[in-house]
Amino acid sequence: MDKIEIAGGRRLHGEVRISGAKNAALPVLASALLVDGWNTFHNIPDLEDIKTIRALLASFGVQSEGEKTVRINAGTISSCEASYDLVRKMRASILVLGPLVARMGEARVSLPGGCAIGARPVNLHIKALREMGAEVELKDGYIEAKSARLKGAEIYFDIPTVTGTENIMMAAALASGTTVLKNAAREPEIVNLADVLTKMGAKIQGAGTDVITVKGVKTLHPVEARVIPDRIEAGTFMIAAGMTQGDIRVVDCEPRDIEALIAKLREAGMEIKVGDGHLRAVGKKKVKSVDIKTMPHPGFPTDLQAQIMAMMTISHGLSVITETVFENRFMHVSEMIRLGADIVIEGNSAVIRGVPKLHGAPVMATDLRASASLILAGLAAEEKTVLSRVYHIDRGYEQIEKKFSALGADMKRISG
Ligand code: UD1
Repeated sequence: MDKIEIAGGRRLHGEVRISGAKNAALPVLASALLVDGWNTFHNIPDLEDIKTIRALLASFGVQSEGEKTVRINAGTISSCEASYDLVRKMRASILVLGPLVARMGEARVSLPGGCAIGARPVNLHIKALREMGAEVELKDGYIEAKSARLKGAEIYFDIPTVTGTENIMMAAALASGTTVLKNAAREPEIVNLADVLTKMGAKIQGAGTDVITVKGVKTLHPVEARVIPDRIEAGTFMIAAGMTQGDIRVVDCEPRDIEALIAKLREAGMEIKVGDGHLRAVGKKKVKSVDIKTMPHPGFPTDLQAQIMAMMTISHGLSVITETVFENRFMHVSEMIRLGADIVIEGNSAVIRGVPKLHGAPVMATDLRASASLILAGLAAEEKTVLSRVYHIDRGYEQIEKKFSALGADMKRISG
């Protein structure tokens, strides 16, 4: 298994280009299931999770070609079963459930099961499909859903779920009648998907707010569309600038999608200059501690919680980071402590006392965003940090060691 070796302590500077958003590309690729014909999607990142969803779609008979620009055709769907082998690799595989039922009238999708950051159930996806008239049974570890044609319904999500909102928006696009999603998630990736579906001929209003209305249509048509930039990748590089007293120009990004992070980094003493599709993040001196609470968008994203915690480990003062979205997302804490961080967990909060310096050590990635936070910690640490279980980072960051090296980091991948 590959490892990433980092000799920390270098000031990062230069320009980094942000890739397409993984979390937008996944539902956009799944939306091809709704259409008969070749779609063209631009700005698809080259990531393991993208390979997984393409393998899953291929297992249904969907054809696809290309990498950055993916052409994809679900004209022939020969199977409606998403196997355990593929779903267990990536929970977001659940995104095929809504479109398959809507287009084919049936789907058999393995239940995703637990993951490192908590139980992450899919009960709200299932409840919504039932409310739209689908018969849904849980059998042998699989969700089996059937419906000749889904019916529009008024759906209230107990929790604003991102993939749940996306799944049901896709299902509702081909349902009969109108579906209203209340307490819907408002993430930018949902707006990206709604834009793609609208281009396909769907009638959607309110994406980006907590009430989304979808008037079902009989068929949709193929489209050419673009995936938005990855706000989590952009945020990771901005934090890297803060941790290394660096100066990084982040290009091909959407500053509007990361306002919560920008506000916190400014509060911590960083200079963030925002432009149209780009920004500059400058860490002039050691950052100040700030308190953070993760929330659904437009609150502070849980997917940047581990990275901002890495920054707080070397801040001036005491910081409290509260995780409200997932119940078990502090797996990175014990690894950060190995690097010399002073962190105590109290329930769903972590109390971080800034230390003058981190010291390199061997550490292990436990999930995607935790891996990113350990790379950040390694960049700021004295001596060498070796991160193992790098496959987690490859799920969601494109060529991370190359992008950091181009900014002056001493970072290399060791194949093994
Ligand atoms: C998506 C993102 C993930 C991000 C998360 C929260 C993708 C592919 N993944 O994950 O990177 O960390 O949003 O921003 O876009 N919940 C239920 N029942 C459900 C569904 C969710 O209880 O049926 C709970 C979850 O356990 C969690 C909360 O709702 O506590 C939010 O989860 P959700 O928004 O669904 O996360 P994902 O869509 O899986």
